[in-house]
Amino acid sequence: MAHLISPSMLSADFCNLAKDIEMINESQADWFHIDVMDGVFVPNISFGQPVIKHIKKLAKKPLDVHLMIVEPDKFFEDYKNCGADIITVHYEACTHLHRSLSRIKQLGMKAGVVLNPHTPVCVLEDIIDMCDLVLLMSVNPGFGGQSFIENTYNKIKDLKELINRKNPSCLIEIDGGVNTANHKALVEAGADVLVAGSAVFASENPIETIKKLKTI
Ligand code: DX5
Ligand code: ZN
Repeated sequence: MAHLISPSMLSADFCNLAKDIEMINESQADWFHIDVMDGVFVPNISFGQPVIKHIKKLAKKPLDVHLMIVEPDKFFEDYKNCGADIITVHYEACTHLHRSLSRIKQLGMKAGVVLNPHTPVCVLEDIIDMCDLVLLMSVNPGFGGQSFIENTYNKIKDLKELINRKNPSCLIEIDGGVNTANHKALVEAGADVLVAGSAVFASENPIETIKKLKTI
């Protein structure tokens, strides 16, 4: 499978979201990455459901919703109603991860688990069979524009081994500090989905940058 690109709307122009959504529609990007932050799980607040509903009205590609919030289970149905196609929840925020993933799937969405940079892949041993995807944070969650953490490559290797052994259809998504200088190495290491925020939106020609991120 060719790798997928999921531009992060956190770095879009909030004064002109429609223009950036159209840009992604026209580009080679595959998903819209939607970062939801609550100011509790992460030290930042982003945007909530009214904004996502409006993105959904214009978006012609799936919404990949990354929940950086405590007690995410309270809101799965709301995010479904806003148009989420994929929901990823943090391992660190879910006490009953099995129940959380079951609920997301029951609502008809794809379900994934996110690991913070300090959380080892081995914690997924008994839940990987339920994951449509695993998102590895390659920065500490909370902000766009941070530098990529190199240890992520070791984690991709561990995750690939686990996936091959227990759930070969599970996708590996990488989020944080992804750019046109490291995207090839990440795909070669085993990444299936690359999230890119500042690399896309701070570039002079976002459509061209997305094309570069798609090319290996
Ligand atoms: C960070 C978010 C990321 C962020 C990526 O907490 O999960 O999705 O928007 O931004 P860049 O690509 O700029 O590191
Ligand atoms: Zn994210």
